[in-house]
Amino acid sequence: MAEFRKKTIQDVEIAGKTVLVRVDYNVPIKDGVIQEDMRISGSLSTIRYLLDQGARKVILISHLGRPDGAYVPELSLAPCAQRLGELLPDKIVRFSDMIYGQDAKDAVDALPDGGVLLLENLRFVPDEEANSAQFAQEIVNATGAELFVQDGFAVIHRAHASTDAIAHILPSVAGFLVENEVSRLEGAMQNPARPLLVIVGGAKVSDKQPLIDKFLMIADKIAVGGKIAADGYKNSSPNVYVAEDFAEDGNGNKLDIGPVSTKKIVDMVKEAKTIVWNGTLGMVEDERFARGSLAVARAMGESNDMTIVGGGDTTGFVEQVLKTNGELTFNLISTGGGASLELLSGKKLPGLEVLQDK
Ligand code: 3PG
Repeated sequence: MAEFRKKTIQDVEIAGKTVLVRVDYNVPIKDGVIQEDMRISGSLSTIRYLLDQGARKVILISHLGRPDGAYVPELSLAPCAQRLGELLPDKIVRFSDMIYGQDAKDAVDALPDGGVLLLENLRFVPDEEANSAQFAQEIVNATGAELFVQDGFAVIHRAHASTDAIAHILPSVAGFLVENEVSRLEGAMQNPARPLLVIVGGAKVSDKQPLIDKFLMIADKIAVGGKIAADGYKNSSPNVYVAEDFAEDGNGNKLDIGPVSTKKIVDMVKEAKTIVWNGTLGMVEDERFARGSLAVARAMGESNDMTIVGGGDTTGFVEQVLKTNGELTFNLISTGGGASLELLSGKKLPGLEVLQDK
């Protein structure tokens, strides 16, 4: 793991303070039912720590989906507040459908000390994505927050009011989820146990090329699969292996890596001491074309080495695999899709940079 260069909740006084925490509860919801809650469960250690340290109130802010500054009932965070309440049965957890103004202030005032309040979807207000300082100030005024904690790893690649502007108003530190994910991802780049293997899949070369470029100089091996490889990706660098055979559907579409490539990549996994995987190797929604990814997930999950999974499709797939293969373990299943990809591509993350340095 790399040393974390930002202040965290362990570096500041918490007792008696109202703490504003940016979480990322952008979770899949179908017909009002949360399909997968890794991002909510991932925020619990920070929330519990703050309350254990005597925080007066914990106010959570998040976005959900992309409502483009308009109210979209299906994108309300209310189901997330309910799930959080189930995950924190010993705490008072409430929801406020207002984000700022008198009604939001009333909801904060009505929250008993030691309670947790989740405010409504920030992106219902266009000022959120516009990174408006005034909007950030309105949230601070309504909540009475004295400290800002960034714990929404999945959104720290965005410069929005709740990830950037707000941190110019309040003293701002990282929560445990951000600290853990950033340290592990940076650790894989800065001082990995070697050999370091990076497995890249997915559909769009343009999305993944910066990651490949960044790791060309760092990784001992880069294995490329998925649609990128099926579409004929070429890279003549000696440490890059591109899948060489594919499983096809009846129409000749290459929808998964084939047995030869699968074996080669699995062997690379077995030899590596650090493995970073971003992007599924086939069309995993159809189990006939999930075999390559499944073999890699199994080999990684059985390994005792540093195993890191990032990228929305890949983490979703691995979570599914874990449901039926409980014996597999991973060091990090990142909650961030775009955020982990940008960090691993060497880009600066605005929501991280803005936090106080150690
Ligand atoms: C994500 O799911 O990657 C994050 O929640 C960020 O969402 P966004 O891409 O809509 O900013």
